[in-house]
Amino acid sequence: MLLSSHPPNSILKVLLRFRKRMTKKKPSLSVRNVIWFGSKLVITLSAILCIYSLLRIHSQSKLQLSGSSYLRGSRSLEDEPFVGPPKIAFLFLARRNLPLDFLWGSFFENADAGNFSIYVHSQPGFVFDESTTRSAFFYGRQLSSSVQVLWGESSMIEAERLLLEEALQDAANQRFVLVSDSCVPLYNFSYIYNYLMSSQKSFVDSFLDVKGGRYNPKMSPVIPKEKWRKGSQWITLVRKHAKVVVDDDVILPVFKKYCKRRPPIDLSKGMQNLKLQKQHNCIPDEHYVQTLLAMSNLEGELERRTVTYTLWNQSTTKMENKAWHPVTYGYANAGPQQINKIKDINHVYYESEYRTEWCKTNSTFVTCFLFARKFTRGAAMRLLSEGLVGNFDSPTLLDTPSDR
Ligand SMILES: *[C@@H]1O[C@H](CO)[C@@H](O)[C@H](O)[C@H]1NC(C)=O
Ligand SMILES: *[C@@H]1O[C@H](CO)[C@@H](O)[C@H](O)[C@H]1NC(C)=O
Ligand SMILES: *[C@@H]1O[C@H](CO)[C@@H](O)[C@H](O)[C@H]1NC(C)=O
Ligand SMILES: *[C@@H]1O[C@H](CO)[C@@H](O)[C@H](O)[C@H]1NC(C)=O
Repeated sequence: MLLSSHPPNSILKVLLRFRKRMTKKKPSLSVRNVIWFGSKLVITLSAILCIYSLLRIHSQSKLQLSGSSYLRGSRSLEDEPFVGPPKIAFLFLARRNLPLDFLWGSFFENADAGNFSIYVHSQPGFVFDESTTRSAFFYGRQLSSSVQVLWGESSMIEAERLLLEEALQDAANQRFVLVSDSCVPLYNFSYIYNYLMSSQKSFVDSFLDVKGGRYNPKMSPVIPKEKWRKGSQWITLVRKHAKVVVDDDVILPVFKKYCKRRPPIDLSKGMQNLKLQKQHNCIPDEHYVQTLLAMSNLEGELERRTVTYTLWNQSTTKMENKAWHPVTYGYANAGPQQINKIKDINHVYYESEYRTEWCKTNSTFVTCFLFARKFTRGAAMRLLSEGLVGNFDSPTLLDTPSDR
């Protein structure tokens, strides 16, 4: 897997194989044989050199085609040095404000300021200041370049890429955690920091998607069917993989063209619905990063699971056409029993691959989930007041300005 992503290595492999074959042959003193072997070696070597230089020209021209990604590409060749501790970049995907800001505020208060950074993608023009958030950690942390996101469409991927691109500007950011406006942390900061930092791998829920019918054959040959993956949108990436996502200008255009969500039936559109309902139904944010990393031969560098828990409503599974939807935790079902049930989970089963994933970080068995969704404000309040997500300083919460 690694070899194919490094042309020089594969050349080495070919050469080694060639040498092995040569040494296996019985030694022969015939001059003709020596000449024959010599010319074969020369031909093989020049063929390899030829292929190698072609590959180099190809990758260079690909970079030069798009100006900005060429700059990004060249910058990402060496890993920029930084001083201080490595940081976790928390990337919030919000519709507007962050309703659970008070919980996150307490969470960050128990962190070391140098160990994390915050970025928020919200509706264009939305500003995080004292009038829109109760936690100063979020002041001015929204991206100025945000786009209008249609939930479940490829604009969602755009928003994720903008967050990653912005966070990559800070060389100290070494882990990139994507969270939604309804996500909560299940542990205190230092637990989450140690868990994520101890792993050199990204945490990306990713599995074969054989029966979903989301794969559009028109994506071939750029995206072959065997590289098509599905998985939770809520990912945690190491820096190297964050760069892969930001630098991609090959897979994304294919997604934009062929992976679209089928719109719901809109009676006002009349007969046009017939055509719209024939359109391929695809959910870009559940396939894009997974498929891109598979295409980049990076699956060996992943823990193939998410660290963000979602409870799916089982009662709708029988209705084939109706998408599953996540259960929302309210005050009543966010008690100690339910939360500890999530915290106790130590493996995940992937039906399409008959794969049981025992949760690990840096080869050590751990519980699977660090975050959970979807939580209401009431549920988050309960987590905080009952100390379920670590030792938070409740009095400071009560000091902060209340709703405006
Ligand atoms: C954080 O949580 C872990 C695990 O729940 C606990 O062992 C540790 O004492 C907590 N640390 C702080 C600073 O509260
Ligand atoms: C902050 O980072 C340093 C260096 O990585 C680490 O030793 C320390 O425990 C971290 N602090 C917290 C609260 O996680
Ligand atoms: C991973 O585990 C090994 C062996 O236990 C340890 O030596 C190493 O420091 C760990 N890596 C990180 C980044 O914590
Ligand atoms: C699951 O969905 C059904 C139908 O939409 C709803 O009636 C039920 O309350 C949901 N269950 C939970 C636990 O949210």
